[in-house]
Formats: sequence, structure tokens, C-alpha cells
Amino acid sequence: MKAVLAYSGGLDTSICVKLLQEKYDCDVITVIVDVGIPKEELVEAEKKARKLGVLKHYTIDAKEEFVTEYIHKAIKANATYEGYPLSTALARPLTAMKVITIAKKEGADALSHGATGKGNDQFRFESMFRSIAPEMEIIAPIRELNLTRKESISYAKEHGIPIPVDLEKPFSIDENLWGRSIEGGILEDPWTEPPEEIFQWTKITKQKPETVMIEFEKGIPIAVNGRKMKPVELVIEMNKVAGSYGVGRVDIVEDRILGIKARENYECPGAVSLITAHKHLEQLVLTRRQLRFKEIVDSTWGELVYKGLWTEPLRKDLDSFIDSTQERVSGEVKLKFSQKNCSVVGRQSRYALYSKEMASFDEKASDLVEGMLRFHSLQSELSKKAG
Ligand code: ARG
Repeated sequence: MKAVLAYSGGLDTSICVKLLQEKYDCDVITVIVDVGIPKEELVEAEKKARKLGVLKHYTIDAKEEFVTEYIHKAIKANATYEGYPLSTALARPLTAMKVITIAKKEGADALSHGATGKGNDQFRFESMFRSIAPEMEIIAPIRELNLTRKESISYAKEHGIPIPVDLEKPFSIDENLWGRSIEGGILEDPWTEPPEEIFQWTKITKQKPETVMIEFEKGIPIAVNGRKMKPVELVIEMNKVAGSYGVGRVDIVEDRILGIKARENYECPGAVSLITAHKHLEQLVLTRRQLRFKEIVDSTWGELVYKGLWTEPLRKDLDSFIDSTQERVSGEVKLKFSQKNCSVVGRQSRYALYSKEMASFDEKASDLVEGMLRFHSLQSELSKKAG
């Protein structure tokens, strides 16, 4: 049997290669979908795959596609789940899709992933696999063999598989251009403060506050401080700028798909600052009815994506609504960064629904308000009278 594995070179997917070979009698093709994985890790992971005797290995650079087809949609939808920007959930559909493409090209029989039976990623991978390639078998070694992290670590050691974690620091880290998530080990106690060493993107290196201008075109950020940037470059730049002020650290107890409450730590400086800026621009150009309705659409979008239901038809329907609102979300937002803080200090747009004349206390109010006042609380008055 030939299996294509969504591989990263981390503990779980590294032992998956061996498990697929030994316990499932498979020839393994590993696929790393680069959605923003550090270069050294890519090189190491590929080396390791070859050492493990894979039939073939692919490294696919999907950064550009990840930004233009996923991150941009997430910005337009202000995509969050329980208060933090979606990052892992956003990349899984793309990774799954690339794995399926390779599997079809290679005439493979099975699709495989390294997710455990406790988390969300099993749902995300498998709903993509099932909806796009229902003819293929799915093999999820870690879940099926019900391996604990400790067991996985000893399996790796027994088989001489080099792994980036040990029993003292068994953190499970997932990283892409939109965020970095860290879980496991001592972090599993929600009372324990996360040690500084787990963070990489949000070390404070700047003290002096700085204002950064973001330009949006139809809901998409296209320039920073007047400098037009390519999609990937802009996200990297905002991770750097916001990260240097320590913006974008999130420590929460989150409700997983299974209902399990899990303590999670995230670093998502670019996502936090760009979504903040985007929301403020929407406030300037959309009507209050659009804004209220869009809140519902945005949270539904976030929940679908969190739950791995990227191929659910409703997601596309919501995207159509969102795109229609974004026609006017063009303009500039000034973000001010200071220690652990990012706030909006200015916004402007050619589509602004703001009227200085209407809003200013220096201008006279319209006498038509009088009439509106009479009717505004009509039903409250009537109900009071009715007793
Ligand atoms: N809980 C987050 C999510 O479901 C992050 C999971 C990422 N995986 C990891 N091994 N850190 O999106």
C-alpha cells in the first residue's frame, strides 16, 4: 500500500513515517506543505524523511497561496475563535488539499496525518480528505494506536528517530505565517504561567512607541507606511513590527471540537494588528446594519473554519456576502504600537460614511430630530400606559 503523509518533521509525523512502514506495511511519501515553516526546519525535516527511508519526499512552497486564498479571507472575515485569530485551523485545509493532489498524482491508496485523538486537527484533515478524496483510505497512526506523548517520545528514541522535543519540554508547536501555537507539557496546567522560553515571535525588543500606517484595498492590506508590499512580505513585516512590541500573545482555555477544554498559548502579532486595523476601517465605511449582520457572519465563518468545515457550502456563501461588503473597505488605518499594545489612532477612506457636519458639536443639530424623538420610544410609552 502507498500512503501519502502530511508531514512536518515534528515528533508525531516523524514517528508516523516509521509506524506506517512497520505497522501498516506502507510505502510512505512525505509531503511538507510550507505555509510559513522556518527554512532550517524544512531542510532538517526533509533530511530526516530521507533517512527514514521514504519512497519520495515533497516540499511544497504554499506561502503565497496561503496568504492570498486563506489569510486574506480570514482578514476580511475578522476570523477569530473564542477571542484569538485562527491560524492552525486556517492552514489545515490547504495542507490537506496539497497532500490529496500529490496522492492522486502518485496513485496512492491512502492519506495519512499525525493528529492525535484528542485535538481538532484530526477533524480538519479528515473532513478535507473525506469530502475531496472519498475513494482514498485514511490512516491516522497516532490516533489509531492511541499513543500518548510519552509513548511517542520513547518510540522515537527506540527507533533512533531524532526529534525536536524531550520529556522535560514536550511542547507541541504548530507554526505558520499567521500564528504560532504552543501546547502540552507544563502548559497543560492552566494555573502555570507560561515560561518565556516558549515564545519566539513576541519578544519585546522595542520600547519607543511607533505609529504604522496600513493601507487596505477591498479589505486586503496592501501597503505598510506607504510602501506597497507583496502579500507574503506584508504579513511577515507585520509579524515583525507587532511582535517586537510583544503584541499578539494569547493565553486561553479554549473549547475544542470534542468539548475538551484545553489551555493554549498563541503568538499572532501580525494577525492581531491587521484584524484590529481592518475592523476599525469597516466601522468607518459600513452601515450599522451591515456591521451588525457581519458580526454574525464573521463568527459563523470563524466557527466553521475552526471546526475544519472548509468545504461546507455555507462557507462559500458567507464568503460571497463578506466579499460584497469589502468592496468599500479601502482606506488607511494608523496603528500605534507600544509595550504589549496596539491601538488604532486614525482611519480614513474615500468611502467613509462619516460626516463631520453631522457629528460635530460645533455645528447646529437638525430640528427634524424633534419628530423622530416623538416616535422613537412609542411602544415603550404605550406599554407603560397599558400597565
Ligand atoms: N488549539 C489550536 C487549534 O485547534 C492549535 C492546535 C495546534 N496544534 C499544536 N500541536 N500546537 O487550532
